[in-house]
Amino acid sequence: MVSSSVKSALKSSVRVSAPATIANLGPGYDVIGMALNEPRDFVEVSLESRGEDFIEVEGVRSESISCDPKKNSALVAGRAVLERAGRGDLCLKMKVIKGVPPRSGLGSSGASSAAGAYSVNVLLGMPLKDEELLQCAMEGERAACGSPHADNVAPALFGGVVFISSFKPIKVIRFEALKDLEIVVITPEVEIGEEKTKIARQILPTSVPLQDMVRQTQAFGKLLVGLMNRDVALMGEGVSGDVVIERARAKLIPKFDYMKSCALEAGAYGFSISGAGPSVFALCPNNMGKQLGATLKSILEKDGIRSSYSVHRNVGEGVKVVS
Ligand code: HSE
Repeated sequence: MVSSSVKSALKSSVRVSAPATIANLGPGYDVIGMALNEPRDFVEVSLESRGEDFIEVEGVRSESISCDPKKNSALVAGRAVLERAGRGDLCLKMKVIKGVPPRSGLGSSGASSAAGAYSVNVLLGMPLKDEELLQCAMEGERAACGSPHADNVAPALFGGVVFISSFKPIKVIRFEALKDLEIVVITPEVEIGEEKTKIARQILPTSVPLQDMVRQTQAFGKLLVGLMNRDVALMGEGVSGDVVIERARAKLIPKFDYMKSCALEAGAYGFSISGAGPSVFALCPNNMGKQLGATLKSILEKDGIRSSYSVHRNVGEGVKVVS
């Protein structure tokens, strides 16, 4: 799925970029995610035969990103590629330029992990297959937030919408990007904590009533059938139907229920939390995004909560080499 046009020539350094993503898409906790057209993270890397791994980070809120080689998602993912390819003897000199804001719910560590893993695979001449690359990128997620979830890194690598159909062995099913759709993301300025994703995972229930399991299955079914049939309205119904994860996490997001009902009333196809939050997103018809974003922002403003919004597209392009 990722480009293999660079397979032949070994390079001394490379610059790649990977996109922001929306994980879960409502009821698909840990098993589905969507690539956005922007923002993107950039990673520049070179391989050296001696020394120690080195990482520097620039760009959006880069001061909040660890440069510890054991904690930096891009570097950990890149090192995992080296080890898996049998080139653990080599060292990485890496620079990350953040475009995806950390701790916002847009797959920031996922974008860095995907870019880190892919950049090293490119330099080695693409020895790893897609699934292996995905597993290495998941190690970046593990380092950044304690869980090796795949629903940000998979769409960041492969683009479109990606369903993770199995963990062991890892298997994915990729859907082409949805064109008849705008995606509005609104990010309230609330701080869940430094280890935001970890916290947002810890508050989730460890078991669910059978009745909720039934409703969640229905919602995920609508999401998948909608995706397969390119029926964005049905897909949106599925996105809005999460009765497990959203219920637990909505408490962390100011005015969540009110924003959701206003967005759906205004004609959005679906509304839910983006990844572990605090961003929320709406799938909506073309040309509705800007107005809807402004409406949601004003809802938060009335309660004195600052926020920003942006309108995106789902793109087929995941990680790529850039010049
Ligand atoms: N599936 C993950 C979660 C995504 O919801 O915790 C985190 O970005």
